[in-house]
Amino acid sequence: DDDTQVDEEGLSRLVTLFYARVREDAELGPIFNDAIADWPEHLEKLAAFWSSVMLTSGRYKGQPVPAHLKHKSRITPALFDRWLTLWAEATNEMMSPEAAAALQAKAKRIAESLQLAVFFRLDR
Ligand code: HEM
Repeated sequence: DDDTQVDEEGLSRLVTLFYARVREDAELGPIFNDAIADWPEHLEKLAAFWSSVMLTSGRYKGQPVPAHLKHKSRITPALFDRWLTLWAEATNEMMSPEAAAALQAKAKRIAESLQLAVFFRLDR
């Protein structure tokens, strides 16, 4: 349904659906499945991340840039496009058009800044 709310419970459901699909994706799946040992913990962390982004809850206290730099050798620009495609699909299915658009706009901006950090940093 497209009526999941942008609240703690709804974001948690969205994150669960999205990462279930990411894990099954031929391109993205292997990277995540190799990197993440404790999936319940990862889903909890990502729900906190999206809660901080969308609800300004401050629940996420992490450092996304070093987390992705660790996997620099396996991450490509095409994979970011794939990630954003799966995110668009999940958000369009679960949320209202307005909420889906807001979640996609945030993800796009964050993906751009992660890509700058991963691909264009000259000091590493
Ligand atoms: C963590 C992969 C894009 C948000 C991770 C981890 C991996 C990963 C493997 C676990 C890091 C570790 O602890 O070893 C990817 C890939 C992407 C991608 C392959 C696209 C090519 C994104 C985007 C966002 C995002 C676009 C946000 C909109 C996060 C966050 C974490 C994380 C918040 C947790 C960082 C922490 O430990 O605090 N990602 N990611 N990722 N990712 Fe991504």
